[in-house]
Amino acid sequence: MDETRARPEAGTPPSRAAKPLMRVLGGERVDPPPIWLMRQAGRYLPEYRALRAEKGGFLALATDPAAAAEVTLQPIRRFGFDGAILFSDILMVPWALGQELTFGPGEGPRLAPKLDVREAIERIGVPDHAKLRPIYDTVARVAAALPPAVAFLGFAGSPWTVATYMVAGQGSKDQAEARRLAYADPGAFGALIDRVVDLTVDYLAAQHGAGVEAVQLFDSWAGSLAPAQFERWVIGPNAAIVERLRARCPKLLIIGFPKGAGAKLPAYARETGVDAVGLDETVDPVWAHANLPPGLPVQGNLDPLALVTGGEALAGAVRRVIDALRERPHVFNLGHGIVPDAPIPHVERLLALVRGGA
Ligand code: CP3
Repeated sequence: MDETRARPEAGTPPSRAAKPLMRVLGGERVDPPPIWLMRQAGRYLPEYRALRAEKGGFLALATDPAAAAEVTLQPIRRFGFDGAILFSDILMVPWALGQELTFGPGEGPRLAPKLDVREAIERIGVPDHAKLRPIYDTVARVAAALPPAVAFLGFAGSPWTVATYMVAGQGSKDQAEARRLAYADPGAFGALIDRVVDLTVDYLAAQHGAGVEAVQLFDSWAGSLAPAQFERWVIGPNAAIVERLRARCPKLLIIGFPKGAGAKLPAYARETGVDAVGLDETVDPVWAHANLPPGLPVQGNLDPLALVTGGEALAGAVRRVIDALRERPHVFNLGHGIVPDAPIPHVERLLALVRGGA
C-alpha cells in the first residue's frame, strides 16, 4: 500500500476527517469500527417496500432521483449507519450500453437481447449517458441531505460480474455461458469487458463528481473463475478501473469486493491497488488479517444468516469478526447483502453490538 495514503494529512478536507468510515478507508484504525451493510436500502425495510409499490417497480424507483434519494436515506434515518450507499443497481451499465432491463415481480433481473455471439457484442451501442443522468441527480440530492458524519458510497459492478449477466441475459448458478465464451472467444469477450471498463470509469467518475466520496466495485461472481481466468477477467479489469479512476479522481477511495475469491484475495489486493478489500462470509478473518498486505483496510464479513438468526449466534459471530480484525483498519459489514427476511430488531442489535465494542 502507498504509505502516503495511509495517514491523515494537513490537506485532508474536514469533511473526510469527520467521517469515521472515510478515515478507515484512508488507512486509519478507528474504534469501534464504522458500520454499513450491503443492500441496506432494500426489501427488508417496510418503508422501501411501500415506496417501491407506489412507484410501480425497481427501475421506476431507481431512475426517479427524489425517490431513489429517499430510499438511499431510509436506512440512515432508521439506524444511523456510518455510510450511505447510493440506491441503484449494477445492471444500469448494461442498460446504458443498450440492453433492455426488466425487474419482474418475484424474479431476478432480465437483460435482452442476450449477448451470446460475437456479432452481438460488436453491435453493442455507444453508451447512452443520458440514461445515467437521473442517477447522478440522485447522488447530488443525497450528498446535500446526508448528516455530516456519514460517508457516501457509490458503486458499480465489476466487468466480469456485469458481463455474466449481459451474456446470459439473467443471473445464473455457475456463470457457465460467460465462462465458456471467455475460453472460446477471448477476443470478443475481452472487447465486451473493455466496453464495460470504459463506461464504468466514466460512470464512477461522474458519481464522484456529483458527490460520492468512495465507491465499491462489486464482483459478485469472482468465485466462479479458475486462477488464470481470475487473473485475466477479475484482476485485470479491476486494476484498469482503479488506475484510470485514480488518475481522474485522486481523492476517491475504492473498495474492491471480489466475492468468493478466497485464497486469491491477497493477489487481488496487491495487483488491483484498491484502497480496501471486502471479505465475504466464507473468508476466515483471522486468515485475512495474516495474509492481506499489512495496514490494508478490510470490510466485512458477518454471515448475513447470523443476522437473520439473532441471539447468541449473532453476538458470537460479531465478536469473532471484530476480534480477528482488531489490529487493522476495519469497516464492519456483512459478507454479502442483507436478505429480505432479516428482522429489523436484529439490525438494531447488530449496531448496538458493534458500537458497544462487542
Ligand atoms: O446496497 C444497496 O442498498 C444499494 C443498492 C444495490 C442494489 N443492487 C439494489 C437492488 C446494490 C449495491 C446492488 C448491487 C447488485 N445488483 C449486485 C452486486 C451485489 C450482490 O448482491 O452480489 C448484483 C449481482 C445485482 C443484480 C441484481 N439486482 C439482482 C441479482 C437482483 C435480484 C435479486 C435480489 O437480490 O434482489 C437485483 C434487484 C435489486 N437490486 C433489488 C435491490 C433493492 C431488489 C429489487 C426489488 O425491489 O425487488
